[in-house]
Amino acid sequence: MPSLEGKVAIVTGAGRGIGREHALALARAGAQVVVNDLGAALSGEGTDSTPAQSVVNEIVAAGGQAVASYDDVSQFDAAKHMVDRAIERYGRLDILVNNAGILRDRMLVNMTEDEWDAVIAVHLKGHFAPTRHAAAHWRERAKDGEELRARVINTSSPSGVFGNVGQANYGAAKAAIAGFTTIVAQELQRYGVTVNAIAPNARTRMTETTFGELPAPEEGEFDPLDPKHMTPIVVALCADDAQGITGQCFFVWGGSINLLRPWEPGELFAADEGWSADDLLAQLLERLPDGAAPEGMLPLMQKAGGRSMRVG
Ligand SMILES: NC(=O)c1ccc[n+]([C@@H]2O[C@H](COP(=O)([O-])OP(=O)(O)OC[C@H]3O[C@@H](n4cnc5c(N)ncnc54)[C@H](O)[C@@H]3O)[C@@H](O)[C@H]2O)c1
Repeated sequence: MPSLEGKVAIVTGAGRGIGREHALALARAGAQVVVNDLGAALSGEGTDSTPAQSVVNEIVAAGGQAVASYDDVSQFDAAKHMVDRAIERYGRLDILVNNAGILRDRMLVNMTEDEWDAVIAVHLKGHFAPTRHAAAHWRERAKDGEELRARVINTSSPSGVFGNVGQANYGAAKAAIAGFTTIVAQELQRYGVTVNAIAPNARTRMTETTFGELPAPEEGEFDPLDPKHMTPIVVALCADDAQGITGQCFFVWGGSINLLRPWEPGELFAADEGWSADDLLAQLLERLPDGAAPEGMLPLMQKAGGRSMRVG
């Protein structure tokens, strides 16, 4: 594994699930880790210091260095407090893994304002706020002449990049995180910061209803949904040698990692003098005889995961 010795990392939502694996892996690679977790319920309600503290204890027991943060990443000032904690405790910040998340699934027609606001806040603002404060720290260091190799790893989702029914709030936030990744990657490149995203798949409390019905793997059999498979891409992207890889979104399913194509130019409808709606409609119907509609999340996940995918 690439050495991250001397680097300081924050992982948000690291008290459980995928974030916990990221924190443990970064610590094993030698990073000092701020283990952030509010200790919220899956819906985002409540607080509990136990999850973050127990991951800190695990890292320390294995000979690593870690400190807990119980800050709510969706609060701008709390996110600053978390970044400041890393800098005060370890003198710097090098890696920010934005991972904290909640779910409040509902069909759009029934979705409440609170269900929309809470999910957008934790995911989207919960990516913006820590990244914003980390970026200020990195800009200061770059201005002082330091050559940085800093990293942001964001957490999108197949729901966001492919679109999943019942998750208009969550999927919109996760698609926005993919867009945020593209833009912030371009903005922070000048300071030596790379910004990438993952679209993970793992058996955690968040997905136990989706994936829980799959037959559990036999003892010793490869389990593609073990959250530990989400971490090699994170550690690899954090390596100094990965300085040239930025603005990308990686779908991860077990051992299959698919570097997704971003929105890119597709079918062109061009009229030198501009279109009338009548002519354009005729062209649309002629060139899209079967219409055009989203494929849905599962078929695209299967394409992205290739042979190793076992759902559907
Ligand atoms: N599990 C999957 O298959 C899957 C798929 C796609 C995306 N994701 C994303 O991966 C990330 C991790 O998900 P998981 O499956 O490990 O879920 P999880 O529920 O096991 O862990 C999420 C953690 O985030 C913490 N958290 C929630 N709100 C917070 C806040 N405001 N501030 C700080 N911490 C907060 C929770 O306390 C929890 O420990 C999420 O962003 C999720 O949307 C997961």
